[in-house]
Amino acid sequence: MSTLADTAIEILRENDRGTYTVPTKGLYPFQWNWDSCLTALGQHHFDEDRAWREIETLFDNQWPCGMVPHIVFHQMDDGYFPGPQVWATGRPVPTSGITQPPVAGFSLKRLFDRAKDTALAEARVKALLPKVAKWHRWFYETRDPRGEGLVAIIHPWEAGRDNSIDWDEPFERVPTEGITPYVRRDTQHANPAHRPTKEQYDRYLWLVEHFRGLGWDTSKLHDASPFQVVDPGFNAILIRSCADLADLADHLGEAELARENRQFAEKGIAAMETLWSEPHGQYLCRDRTRETLVDSASVGGLLAAFCAIPTDRAAAIARTIDNHGTWFRVASHPPQDSRFDAKRYWRGPVWLVINYMIADGLRRAGEVDAAAKITASSLDLIRESGFAEYYDPMTGEPLGGGRFTWTAAMVLEFLSMEQ
Ligand code: GLC
Repeated sequence: MSTLADTAIEILRENDRGTYTVPTKGLYPFQWNWDSCLTALGQHHFDEDRAWREIETLFDNQWPCGMVPHIVFHQMDDGYFPGPQVWATGRPVPTSGITQPPVAGFSLKRLFDRAKDTALAEARVKALLPKVAKWHRWFYETRDPRGEGLVAIIHPWEAGRDNSIDWDEPFERVPTEGITPYVRRDTQHANPAHRPTKEQYDRYLWLVEHFRGLGWDTSKLHDASPFQVVDPGFNAILIRSCADLADLADHLGEAELARENRQFAEKGIAAMETLWSEPHGQYLCRDRTRETLVDSASVGGLLAAFCAIPTDRAAAIARTIDNHGTWFRVASHPPQDSRFDAKRYWRGPVWLVINYMIADGLRRAGEVDAAAKITASSLDLIRESGFAEYYDPMTGEPLGGGRFTWTAAMVLEFLSMEQ
């Protein structure tokens, strides 16, 4: 009988396209940004060289301005919508025109710290370091125009939590008139009841067409977007990556990059306080177009634990997760909220990548039991339901795509932590 680790490696190999890995066959046939950076952690357990390559391929497709796109369309495939013709970004290898959670800095440090082949690791990090630093600089220059220390996303897909309840209210400000008629592909691969709605898709598309109309000039898009949301989870990932990159830069004698990234991280941590909600016991999103906090206690506000928030905040987050009372942790939305939907994508289901980052942050903050419970729950899900895209937090039912790449990568990570 094959072990969980064997199956995880088999899935990572099956979805490997040589220099990048697809999230799963059919539903997602290209390279996704944060999927790749987290997938590399799994690959590193059995092939160090291949793990570095995964991240390098992504950065080969970095835009001259510094942005790293959320999808790289390496090979044509009509199984996915919106494809390269809709984005029309004019890149040599076609890409989308928005970004995704910048977890690369964190992944680089983790790969580096664990490397058996240190000479190989130093050479690979040295080449990637300035590219990741350029991406971080791009964020603070284009997505934090007032220098608050926190960046905004301008499309829900950037958060990686596509249809979270967090976006419902800010999305009301995004029109749908005039969009080109389209046919969705995702609902041909997965159950439509577990995916975003048509109304949400219309708004996703309106934003894409609006940005395309501005020639994908990333210096203009933030101010021109009716959707500008400061997501605590997204910012925590950026802050953690800045701090990790600063450590790596110090190690490699890149003092200026270290100073710059440490400053981003310190300013960011201080600014995170403005997103804290005492009644919810967690952080919340801020709608930047209104300067109001969004009343939605999603997992984005728990993911904030991934960066070095104060320890009392981390302890409160651990309690909030306990209060969800779900059988499996961590629900992407609390079941106590009437908008919770146990099976619909980011409106309730559990995602292993999110579990991994929350557990990692809580452990660092000293919340060792809370981290261990998340790890155990994640592995229980795999044993009971296999390597799915996401899971019902009440029943553990596997949902979305199957034989999922980043789920497999996280399993290798969780197993190595248990040892
Ligand atoms: C979905 C997820 C996003 C992920 C992508 C590929 O769009 O919401 O976070 O990157 O699928 O797995």
